[in-house]
Amino acid sequence: MSRKPKAAPAEGLEAARAELAGLAERIAAADVAYHGQDAPEVTDAVYDGWRRRHAEILAAHPDLADPESAVGKVGSAPASGFRKFRHGVPMLSLDNAFEAADFVEFEARIRRFLGLKADSGLHFVAEPKLDGLSISITYENGALVAAATRGDGFEGEEVTANIRTLANVPEKLQGDPPARIEVRGEVLMTKADFLALNESQAAAGERLFANPRNAAAGSLRQLDARITAGRALQFFAYAMGEASAEVAATHWAYLEALEGWGFTVNPLRRRVSGGAEAEAFQREIGEGRAALPYDIDGVVYKLDDIGLQRRLGFVGRAPRWAIAWKFPAEQAVTVLRDIRIQVGRTGALTPVAELEPVNVGGVLVTRATLHNEDEIARRDVRIGDTVMLQRAGDVIPQILGVLPDKRPKGAVPWVPPETCPECGSLALRPPGEVVRRCTGGLICPAQQVERLIHFVSRGAFDIEGLGDRTVAEFYTDGLLKTPVDIFTLPEHEAEIAKREGWGALSARNLSRSIEARRVIPLARFIYALGIRRIGETNAKLLARHYGSFAHWREQMLAARVIGSDERLALGSIIGIGPAVAEELMEFFAEARNVAALDALAAVLTIEDAAAAGAESPLAGKTIVFTGGMATMTRPEAKARAEALGARVTDSVSKNTDYVVAGADAGSKAKKAAALGLTVLDEAAWRELAGRPPPEEAEEA
Ligand code: IVH
Repeated sequence: MSRKPKAAPAEGLEAARAELAGLAERIAAADVAYHGQDAPEVTDAVYDGWRRRHAEILAAHPDLADPESAVGKVGSAPASGFRKFRHGVPMLSLDNAFEAADFVEFEARIRRFLGLKADSGLHFVAEPKLDGLSISITYENGALVAAATRGDGFEGEEVTANIRTLANVPEKLQGDPPARIEVRGEVLMTKADFLALNESQAAAGERLFANPRNAAAGSLRQLDARITAGRALQFFAYAMGEASAEVAATHWAYLEALEGWGFTVNPLRRRVSGGAEAEAFQREIGEGRAALPYDIDGVVYKLDDIGLQRRLGFVGRAPRWAIAWKFPAEQAVTVLRDIRIQVGRTGALTPVAELEPVNVGGVLVTRATLHNEDEIARRDVRIGDTVMLQRAGDVIPQILGVLPDKRPKGAVPWVPPETCPECGSLALRPPGEVVRRCTGGLICPAQQVERLIHFVSRGAFDIEGLGDRTVAEFYTDGLLKTPVDIFTLPEHEAEIAKREGWGALSARNLSRSIEARRVIPLARFIYALGIRRIGETNAKLLARHYGSFAHWREQMLAARVIGSDERLALGSIIGIGPAVAEELMEFFAEARNVAALDALAAVLTIEDAAAAGAESPLAGKTIVFTGGMATMTRPEAKARAEALGARVTDSVSKNTDYVVAGADAGSKAKKAAALGLTVLDEAAWRELAGRPPPEEAEEA
């Protein structure tokens, strides 16, 4: 497959030489960051853009080729050799708070959800938020049997042998732990050990780690556990995974039990009640932060009462009962070298700041987001400006503003491009939108590559051995163009085996991992399509609601008609708002998309959505709540129903399975009766939901 070069190479030999040198430097730096694992600093699209530009210039000026150049020598990243490990209970992340008001809102949300009075006391356990990597360790009859990284939260990598080398991870538990228990916590490296490691790496001519967290991750994820054994790593236990028996009624008591079994638990933990106490603790820990031997980036507040934690459950990927209150962002000043345009999967053009590298709170920053063109105009950011930037945790650094006194003479306002830098198609900004988009759709290489990368990513088809760079390379070489081509790759196994950096074994493994994904759950399939606004959560909602691929497809096509029953049904799925429905309709309005969908369906087995809690009597049922309940708030009832695999909708129709009518239920209950539907009172609902009078079992 051919693609037209995006622009003529630089004119003039000197300009070409200078551009080439600049590109080589950036590519080499990105390679170091990438292979120094866990620390890529640019997106693959940006990186690939540099390499393409580099190749184009060389094609026009072959004389400039430098045989010693590091560019061109870099192979693909080694495939991971760890076994996958499926977590029995997902390892989730935490919502963030940045200021006192966020904490107040967090508490208020808990009270609203549980139907508690505003003055009711809530108790939290506050613990430093350790900046390492989270690990799950399973014990059976007191003996360590398995350990795994968090991975995507559902599936991580098995690192048992590596974890066994950590001095403060007990091999055998003391006391009387449950027969089977999974303990979660953070593996970290102290700042001193990190510096010492980097010194010895430098002395040995090995690569350096960017920060203690990367050093911890890199040290743990060693295929040869003897290397891990030589690195100073520590484990702090802080959370519960699966357990065969109840350990404690409060998180505080659970932490004490952990200590009793032989784990290290962070000594800085504290019990706090209410926003004022949390704020005081936040300040105290923040002031002591620099003097701590390890990095922390905030404080985690967890509701102490485990019974209440269970009732609160999770929303999306985070518990409702805990929050990470982050420390304020760290700031720095540097020079904006250039503004580059990145083209995303959905064609969005994002301006990215290329910066004079600067150290911000221990991390070297070379790039920052500029959000969108309005932001650039509002802050009047110009190339050459000295800018103030900030970095908060894992978030991409942001430009806060410019220092006008330092503006070089002749700096001109930045003008957004009118064409896509990747494919040359018109780039338009629809009225009322902030984002400019490439109109090239399927012909835009950046969009195609980004779509493919998304398609094979972890939450989607999760094809091992098909990393971002491989996808980009296969795309460039014409092996891959659209998602369905992935499933013809096994036919090209011999050809792949001959490629640089490959071999018979890795090509075989790739074919195997592709074949293993021919059967795919509906939710993953929908997510993989990369439709705007359809993330994992929305994909799951859709899968759960429509059940099967055929039904979803048919309903979506019918829903294109405004006012149709199908359109109304789509709008009534709780969690799917009008903007999401609009994106779905846009996707299905495009014949090429439907054709691509059908091409995929023809080579795949798309599994019907197994509703969460498939064995529950509520799995797959549609429920409408109406009227107030005495023992449960509406959000709690809804969350419970959804956790048990039910769909909760707003309006009663013949498709409704249960109507739960609380006190003063009005017209909906009447309509239900008229339709002859099953109407439950609060007690019957609690029974069905497995919540007979308060205090109850594990969240599904
Ligand atoms: S509790 C469901 N406690 O923060 C709650 N997490 O943003 C599970 N982390 O992946 C997490 N220190 O790696 C918890 N004291 C602490 C923590 C902590 C650091 C990390 C952890 C988690 C991430 C969530």
